Amino acid sequence: MKNQVGGFSVVLFSGVVIFFIFILFFNDSRGVIYGGRRSFSRSNYNDDDSPTTVNHLAFGLQGSEKTYHFRRYYVESWWKPDKFRGYVYLDKPPQGNLLPWSKISPPYRVNDNISKLISELKPINPLMARMVHGISELFREEHQELRWLIMGDDDTVFFVDNLVEVLSKYDHTKYYYIGNPSEFVLSNFWFSFNQAFGGGGIVLSYPLAKALVDDMDRCLRKYSNLSADTMTMACIADLGVDLTVHKGLHQMDLRGDVSGFLSAHPKAPVLAFHHIDTVNPYFPKMTRANALKHLMKAGDVDQSRLFQQTICHDQKRNWSFSTAWGYSVNIYERIMPRSWLTIPIETFIGWHPDQKQQPRYMFNTRNPLGDPCETPHVFFFESIKKTSNGQILTRYSRSAPRNLTACPIGGNRSAEYISKIEVLSPATKRYEIDRSECCDVVRIDNTGNVKIKIRECRIGEVIA
Ligand SMILES: *[C@@H]1O[C@H](CO)[C@@H](O)[C@H](O)[C@H]1NC(C)=O
Ligand SMILES: *[C@@H]1O[C@H](CO)[C@@H](O)[C@H](O)[C@H]1NC(C)=O
Ligand SMILES: *[C@@H]1O[C@H](CO)[C@@H](O)[C@H](O)[C@H]1NC(C)=O
Ligand SMILES: *[C@@H]1O[C@H](CO)[C@@H](O)[C@H](O)[C@H]1NC(C)=O
Ligand SMILES: *[C@@H]1O[C@H](CO)[C@@H](O)[C@H](O)[C@H]1NC(C)=O
Repeated sequence: MKNQVGGFSVVLFSGVVIFFIFILFFNDSRGVIYGGRRSFSRSNYNDDDSPTTVNHLAFGLQGSEKTYHFRRYYVESWWKPDKFRGYVYLDKPPQGNLLPWSKISPPYRVNDNISKLISELKPINPLMARMVHGISELFREEHQELRWLIMGDDDTVFFVDNLVEVLSKYDHTKYYYIGNPSEFVLSNFWFSFNQAFGGGGIVLSYPLAKALVDDMDRCLRKYSNLSADTMTMACIADLGVDLTVHKGLHQMDLRGDVSGFLSAHPKAPVLAFHHIDTVNPYFPKMTRANALKHLMKAGDVDQSRLFQQTICHDQKRNWSFSTAWGYSVNIYERIMPRSWLTIPIETFIGWHPDQKQQPRYMFNTRNPLGDPCETPHVFFFESIKKTSNGQILTRYSRSAPRNLTACPIGGNRSAEYISKIEVLSPATKRYEIDRSECCDVVRIDNTGNVKIKIRECRIGEVIA
């Protein structure tokens, strides 16, 4: 879809938007209902002070009949039927291979037919109002015992254990609009630096969701010429509420190999990924869907550490190790401080590859450019198991030879022969990320195996 913004003809990337291109037909009233009812009991009310659980969260995933044929595998990688509340919203009833409706997908709903309102408002792009209206459609069905309403797309992957933990630290009886700007600077410039980008997730506390839904008619009448995520922000701003940023919600306005970005994940629990189709599979030599399933093997055991970056050094060999838990390990052949290794390597390109102007990203990047001292040996997550004393052992294996000579500054000690890395991490989850964890390189043997142990940092410990 093309949209004229600031003189640029840009592909509109707010992911929520794209799939509603296909909205042509609408059902009257409440749409079609398929899929089983949830079986959990709802004993908690949204205004009590019991701990927040997954039962208090409701998900609305904006999809389309056309895209869901292949995107269902992304959703099914993280969705737990009978445990999670929510729906996939489609533009029209599912057909062909989507029937019978998959039991491991969320139940679906067909979006309301709001063509009467559209014909009255005559917005430039009618899809936008229809998308924002989806918030009302979810709230209408799932407002009971609801604390958090969460909107995403059918190509959004949520990390729900982390969402529950993170959201339980906020007061759900207050007004919260939680999300994250885009990684790509121009996306924010074109739309807003203050909006939650919907593909990365829009999280609304119950009172805010209710206020927005009550105000929906005014909102659509006033702002229906804005793009959907900007419209949502504008309507919420008029209710006196501004964005609370959470860096674990990733719009992922990046393309290609995002391993450099994910190997230096922000020090915040990972909550959501978007744009699964525009980035390479998260692991080499796997399909996108299988790579997500593989990632969830680690995510199901300890989401709190997933992607968290832990750095340690082998002083004898002058090597640095950077682990992104459950995802990758990088080895550098010189000692590098944490301050440098937390900067992502620019393995990816921006949402607009032809936009060469700087700044491109909302963060700094590194460009090793074939320098053997700056280019890591890359290892990807292979397997996970619990040890007999409850600790967690993740294994990583080399993805490819590095094809560079050794780093002379570190003393020409090549790590090319390293093929496997084992990382031992504590049994307890770690949601208080006040500072990173530390680690020790326990063993490096001649056959190419490395053992690393993650632990709490000592008081005043310097990672450099
Ligand atoms: C939507 O409603 C309009 C009338 O408001 C009707 O003409 C149209 O056929 C409806 N579309 C669908 C797909 O039901
Ligand atoms: C949206 O823009 C169109 C074209 O400029 C205009 O006709 C319409 O009235 C606008 N709608 C709203 C709700 O501002
Ligand atoms: C090194 O070269 C091999 C053979 O050409 C290739 O398969 C591999 O991807 C290269 N490694 C890197 C890190 O580019
Ligand atoms: C490690 O690197 C430093 C410089 O970065 C160098 O002075 C030192 O000799 C190296 N140590 C070894 C064991 O090679
Ligand atoms: C590393 O190798 C380079 C090139 O082979 C050589 O010039 C340099 O002296 C070596 N450095 C060390 C510390 O051995």
